Amino acid sequence: MTDELLNHPGALTGDVRPTTSYTLRVNGVERPVADAWIGESLLYVLRERLGLAGAKDGCEQGECGACSIQVDGQLVNGCLVPAALAADSEIATVEGLSGPGGASDVQRALADSGAVQCGYCTPGMAMAVHDLLQRNHRPSEVEARQALCGNLCRCTGYRAALNAVQTVADAREAALEAELAAAEQAAGETPAPTAAAPVPARPTEQSFADLALAGELPLYADAELWHEADQLIPAQQQGEATARAGGYAYPPTPPHGTAAPAGGWEPTPAHGTAGADAHGTPAHGTPYLPTPPHGTPHQDAGPYDGTVYATDGHPYPQYPGYDHPAGYGAPVGYGAPAGYDAPAGYDATPAHGIRLPEDENA
Ligand code: FES
Ligand code: FES
Repeated sequence: MTDELLNHPGALTGDVRPTTSYTLRVNGVERPVADAWIGESLLYVLRERLGLAGAKDGCEQGECGACSIQVDGQLVNGCLVPAALAADSEIATVEGLSGPGGASDVQRALADSGAVQCGYCTPGMAMAVHDLLQRNHRPSEVEARQALCGNLCRCTGYRAALNAVQTVADAREAALEAELAAAEQAAGETPAPTAAAPVPARPTEQSFADLALAGELPLYADAELWHEADQLIPAQQQGEATARAGGYAYPPTPPHGTAAPAGGWEPTPAHGTAGADAHGTPAHGTPYLPTPPHGTPHQDAGPYDGTVYATDGHPYPQYPGYDHPAGYGAPVGYGAPAGYDAPAGYDATPAHGIRLPEDENA
């Protein structure tokens, strides 16, 4: 006999099957297992070596579900899992369901609904319901049936177990809603303390002029203060202050996250815009009026004066204030047809299809 066999823990009994040692982590507790046959099932090790007899031994071939446990969060039949392969896994058994307060809500619901008679299937059933409600907080009847179809019960007929699933789902949902409502109420009653926002000092004529002339720019977060400060620069000092203050003319771009003032930000002024009162190139963002459709009366138009035709054959009326390009005008001697009586108030480009005066005189 070799040394290996002589040293085998089963040498004296003649059981020389290969063994191994490992540690299982069961319900959060490290449980060492020494010199165990490598073929032992997790169900066997839990029950016979570790004394955790909650998982039941029904068929030992994966048919009844009485041995249901979780390995790394997956519901498995403990009788089909080699224990040595679960050495690095988190194992949860029915013993871990109950806490200091006693049985879990799942266990209580199973008992209260009448799903426990002989009780042999109950630990596996409890683990199956627990696993289902971990994955699906509001399972349908079909989903609950699918989840429990691997757990055979010869006593109760399953209706009671399905009722227990519904009971726990309802109770957990109600508890969550109550918790959220309480949290909202608490938040409304005692608003979180917020640091008081610093109140910026309002500029004065002297203070702003002093700062600007010293080459410093006060940083007002409030656009209203910038406007106020702008008004406070003495007219005779504006040029000098602007130059010394690094070309100050407009408030700097506000930092990210600055709330827009009521009415929104003003658009960036166009290049060359002299000031708020200047009439220049429209600022960026200024919308243009769309070209009016044919037939739209000109807003400023007076009655057609009937004296000038700008183009050949088309009676464009003259509008007050309209500036023809230099040198542009009606052909010499070209005027309104004799006797043409312009309609009173006619002031728009005629729409397509309108008969022209020439047509009437043709
Ligand atoms: Fe594991 Fe029956 S004992 S499925
Ligand atoms: Fe007896 Fe389920 S209660 S087998």
